[in-house]
Amino acid sequence: MTNPSRPSFWAEKYQPDYPPPWDLGQAAPPFVEFLDAHPELTPGKTAVVGSGLGNDALLLAQRGFDVMGFDFVETAVARAIRAAADAGLSAKFLQRDVFELGNEFAQQFDFVVEHTCYCAIDPARRNDYVQAVYEILKPGGHFIGLFWCHDRQGGPPFGSDMKQVRDRLTTKFKILSFDLAQTSIESRQGQEYLGLFKKTLAIASQLQQSYKRVPQPVPYAL
Ligand SMILES: C[S@@+](CC[C@H](N)C(=O)[O-])C[C@H]1O[C@@H](n2cnc3c(N)ncnc32)[C@H](O)[C@@H]1O
Repeated sequence: MTNPSRPSFWAEKYQPDYPPPWDLGQAAPPFVEFLDAHPELTPGKTAVVGSGLGNDALLLAQRGFDVMGFDFVETAVARAIRAAADAGLSAKFLQRDVFELGNEFAQQFDFVVEHTCYCAIDPARRNDYVQAVYEILKPGGHFIGLFWCHDRQGGPPFGSDMKQVRDRLTTKFKILSFDLAQTSIESRQGQEYLGLFKKTLAIASQLQQSYKRVPQPVPYAL
């Protein structure tokens, strides 16, 4: 298998004039349901990570969010920019590696949204991925994730389960909700979980405290 951490792995899936195999041709229905159910979420500055052809970003832009989609494949970004222009929407798209976003966009977003990006990332990098999302959110910002948790071997999409995702996110976020999505497309039904997670100052400072408590090595006694 070529390396899914490299843009070239994904770039070859974006054949001209065809959607890539995972593309729904529309926003994921669980996001539509979620936004309808949460009118209290005031639209804000929003990053969509691994934004692909931009379907979910365009939904958010339609709902008044100030959206920036990030993907490291040039053709995906170009096609998403065209889709936004065709729809008359102001969503922006930039070619960036998610793991580098913290250098440029630290604490800039009210929302980060993910859909089949977690399962696209090499499992060995999942903690770094959660860290990257955490870094670009403002304190008090929300992470909205639709996680495809299947149990097939290999990947991408790499498998996971709800508990594993929950345990990983708990280290950085307060979990406001995390449930089986009810309106997944047929091939993902029963395997997709939609969550709303909050970057809280309390957890940030707890992490800092526990970091400070890491025992220091005892110097050699001579
Ligand atoms: C399975 S696709 C999902 C695309 C889109 N979210 C959707 O659901 O249609 C995963 C996307 O993440 C992008 N991607 C994977 N790793 C990335 C990284 N480190 N930085 C930026 N984009 C990445 C790929 O290029 C691909 O477009």
